[in-house]
Amino acid sequence: MGDYTNMSSYYDVIMTSGYYDYAEIVDDLERHGPFTNILEIGCGTGLILEEFGRRQSCPRITGIDLTEAMLILARKRLERFPAITLAQQNVVELSLTQHFDAAFSYGGVWYFVIDGENEPFMVSHIPGEADNATGLKKLADQISSGGMLLLGIQGPHFDYEKPISNGMTYAQKIAPHDYGFTKHYYLIDAGQKVMAQTIDYRTYSWAQTLEMLGALGFTFLPQSGDTGKFLAFRKA
Ligand SMILES: C[S@@+](CC[C@H](N)C(=O)[O-])C[C@H]1O[C@@H](n2cnc3c(N)ncnc32)[C@H](O)[C@@H]1O
Repeated sequence: MGDYTNMSSYYDVIMTSGYYDYAEIVDDLERHGPFTNILEIGCGTGLILEEFGRRQSCPRITGIDLTEAMLILARKRLERFPAITLAQQNVVELSLTQHFDAAFSYGGVWYFVIDGENEPFMVSHIPGEADNATGLKKLADQISSGGMLLLGIQGPHFDYEKPISNGMTYAQKIAPHDYGFTKHYYLIDAGQKVMAQTIDYRTYSWAQTLEMLGALGFTFLPQSGDTGKFLAFRKA
């Protein structure tokens, strides 16, 4: 489930070749704040956390991730930022002693896809239905009453390949299935496949998402404008 070991050593170069804009992600998180104690679910190699760390207003942040190979890179990147701590955890078994006034995930465990005028749908790195329910409950339990859950927004997934900044070619292929889709990621160097990773994603309609999050005490907070990077929910 959601293991990024194969991609880990190439993750940064793929993401910083235009896949995500980390400054804009943190700008948008700050717009929803201020927060004093934040949890990132699926922090990967720590690129969002580094962007937070560099800013003067950096709050206390805990990043958790399932994939140890990603966290090895994150620990190195973030050792100079004392406000940021990391833990190797699967969100399905999340166990932390603190509570947070905000939790977010950007391309991490859960995120939304918005395709034009259609309703958003939620994408999960966790394929099992029961595991999603357990993970969301564990996450909700870590968020203080009145706190926020912010899940990132991405555009629709499609097949493509494009050159990245180290001269290699990144490629992705999407195969829909009955409960979501499978995404194949590749990296090609001089005609040779140097990395391949496959993730099985479960998707939830907007109505299913509102029902699941509503049952955990979350209310959707509609925003004006369409430039935001996150959909926001407030915990009762
Ligand atoms: C696309 S990466 C996003 C990383 C980071 N948020 C970023 O913006 O660069 C997705 C991350 O989610 C992590 N992940 C997937 N399933 C998880 C789970 N069940 N519990 C914790 N982390 C998980 C993966 O290990 C991976 O590092």
